[in-house]
Amino acid sequence: MNAEALRHVVEVATRAPSVHNTQPWHFAGRAEPDGKITGIAVLADRERVLEVIDPEGRELHMSCGAAIEFARIAVRALGLSCAVTLFPDVDRSDLLALIGIGNEEPPTDEELQLIAAVPDRYTARERFDDTPVPDELVVRLEETVAEVGTWLRVLGDREDEVTLAVLLARSDEIERHDSRYESELTTWLHRPQSSRDGIPPDATVSTQERASSFRLREMESDVEVPRASAADRPPKEPPPAEHPLVCIIGTPEDDARAWLQAGQALGRLLLEAAAFGVQASPMTQVTEVPSVRAMLTAGLGLVGHPQIVLRMGYAHGHPSTPRRPVDLVLDLPDP
Ligand SMILES: Cc1cc2nc3c(=O)[nH]c(=O)nc-3n(C[C@H](O)[C@H](O)[C@H](O)COP(=O)(O)O)c2cc1C
Repeated sequence: MNAEALRHVVEVATRAPSVHNTQPWHFAGRAEPDGKITGIAVLADRERVLEVIDPEGRELHMSCGAAIEFARIAVRALGLSCAVTLFPDVDRSDLLALIGIGNEEPPTDEELQLIAAVPDRYTARERFDDTPVPDELVVRLEETVAEVGTWLRVLGDREDEVTLAVLLARSDEIERHDSRYESELTTWLHRPQSSRDGIPPDATVSTQERASSFRLREMESDVEVPRASAADRPPKEPPPAEHPLVCIIGTPEDDARAWLQAGQALGRLLLEAAAFGVQASPMTQVTEVPSVRAMLTAGLGLVGHPQIVLRMGYAHGHPSTPRRPVDLVLDLPDP
């Protein structure tokens, strides 16, 4: 692989989702003495960790895991073999993965579908339409996440949905009563345009405009809600409720490796879904408050550790969230 191909792979990797669009990653090319690039090191950028909601860096690792998966698919789509080694150096916890690039090996049709879905995927916070997610896709997603040692629990009955809805509301309430939470979120909702990170206003949806039993993270914390008196207020039809597919990616362990694997599973799942025209939005609050995460595990009878909760369905917007330029996040190998 040459430097141009490396830049392309890293460009694709940076299209991965990341918590609050923090993009907490860095990449470094590894080359042979003849200049041929044979590997990409993926490093954690701990300066971008969210100290309040993610003190252990669990979501940072998941974000980087998704980027590792996007990079892997980009290498495969170029027709090269690819082997990912997580934590290749036991003494370096910041070196998350080494993506080894090998000889020519034609991509499969599925890999080509996944790479084609990269520009289509986005975090869809708007209301999904009423088309159900096809069973065929759900089966595929279950198989996909199992390939990286994780599991998918699809919420099938009303009781489980109520449990999740209550716990989402509970975690949201706990987090929003913490002024440090509000201030961290506000920082990432109001980043200067030049930083090319954070969540732009057009990617957010006020929860007051979106009817769902599942509480999304409220991202309009500092927007004044007009308070008309009850008499002045025109009677308003509630927006139609949505019925998304809700699922949870979980892992047998709960350590840095498991978080990376959950991120790899997330990256693959989101692209598989986008290839079917299905989008998703994470509802991570419920895993951020330890006591609520424990209640989620017990309440749904999960075996293992829930890492990320997703609502999925057919959406019709496409906000473009910015990404930092490749040159800022990639070290090319020395010539
Ligand atoms: C680990 C992780 C946690 C996330 N948690 C949430 C969340 O709780 N609520 C939400 O609306 N989006 C969440 N997101 C989505 C990010 O905000 C989104 O990926 C980022 O803003 C980039 O936008 P894009 O996915 O449309 O490219 C999460 C993403 C990741 C990877």
